[in-house]
Amino acid sequence: MYKITGKEDLNDQDYYIEVEAPHVVRHWRPGQFVIIMVSDRGERIPMSVATVEDGRVGMFIKKLGKTSTQLYREYNVGDSIYAVAGPLGNPVPLANYGTVVLASDAVCAHAEQLGLAVELSKLGNKVISIQTFKSENEVYPDKYLAKKLVDEHYITTLDGSAGFKGHFIDLLRELLARRDVKAVYAGGALPSLKKLAEATVGKGVRVYTLVRQIMVDGTGMCGSCRVRYNGGIAYACRDGPWFDAHLVDWDDVLRRDARFKRVEKLALEKYLAR
Ligand SMILES: Cc1cc2nc3c(=O)[nH]c(=O)nc-3n(C[C@H](O)[C@H](O)[C@H](O)COP(=O)(O)OP(=O)(O)OC[C@H]3O[C@@H](n4cnc5c(N)ncnc54)[C@H](O)[C@@H]3O)c2cc1C
Ligand code: FES
Repeated sequence: MYKITGKEDLNDQDYYIEVEAPHVVRHWRPGQFVIIMVSDRGERIPMSVATVEDGRVGMFIKKLGKTSTQLYREYNVGDSIYAVAGPLGNPVPLANYGTVVLASDAVCAHAEQLGLAVELSKLGNKVISIQTFKSENEVYPDKYLAKKLVDEHYITTLDGSAGFKGHFIDLLRELLARRDVKAVYAGGALPSLKKLAEATVGKGVRVYTLVRQIMVDGTGMCGSCRVRYNGGIAYACRDGPWFDAHLVDWDDVLRRDARFKRVEKLALEKYLAR
């Protein structure tokens, strides 16, 4: 069992939760993820790692379906969850590129920014972070943003209520035109990542994206997270989850992510009705 040591709202939808998991802290590198189980009969859900400190792992979680909602509603500091498996997947490839942009528009990617910012800075990069939220009231508290870890930090909101008005892709287009950006690390909503891949192809910039696919075992055994990649097949859990955006078949990724929407909706409705 893994004890919960911290829990805090990030906005109306997203929350921070911290659990004791020293085995993960010892081996984790940015880009790797964990799979948690809330109870022994619960589903296995993959989560990015936002913070690692003194044997504790912090995650940013969106209340999206049954399990993420149940964890928020029924578990508090001092309670324990059943499993935290990991670290799983590969560390994201990092190098000294010069100027690098980190971009995120959803919970998992905001989490990934923190570790990436630290490591890319250590390697000598100038790191620019862009974090997109729907509106001002969804922007995370300062301590959970990449703000203090990077050279330049931008908030964008879709409605323009805070920071730059628009999506990270809009601001990134401007940066690519004015600055010598050599690499982009982006995660978030899959349709945005598809657009990002299209907007940057042939521009001489390396683009790594977090390809979130539905996972079961998380070790390459079940085939659930398969991604059509570079003309072949890859598995997000075993070969990713970070991939070169220009080599991913995004239409296939989008199709596969929607496979269980109907049963997921039913599971949440059933849980809420209980
Ligand atoms: C590598 C990776 C990192 C992730 N990091 C985060 C994170 O930091 N924060 C966060 O909130 N979410 C993250 N996710 C997504 C998270 O796993 C799903 O939101 C979660 O499984 C939802 O479970 P649920 O029961 O609440 O919702 P459900 O209703 O079961 O699912 C809602 C949606 O979540 C996705 N999903 C559901 N089950 C899985 C599964 N087993 N594997 C992958 N995706 C699934 C699908 O898009 C689905 O439509 C990550 C996924 C992957 C693959
Ligand atoms: S989750 Fe089973 S192969 Fe990736």
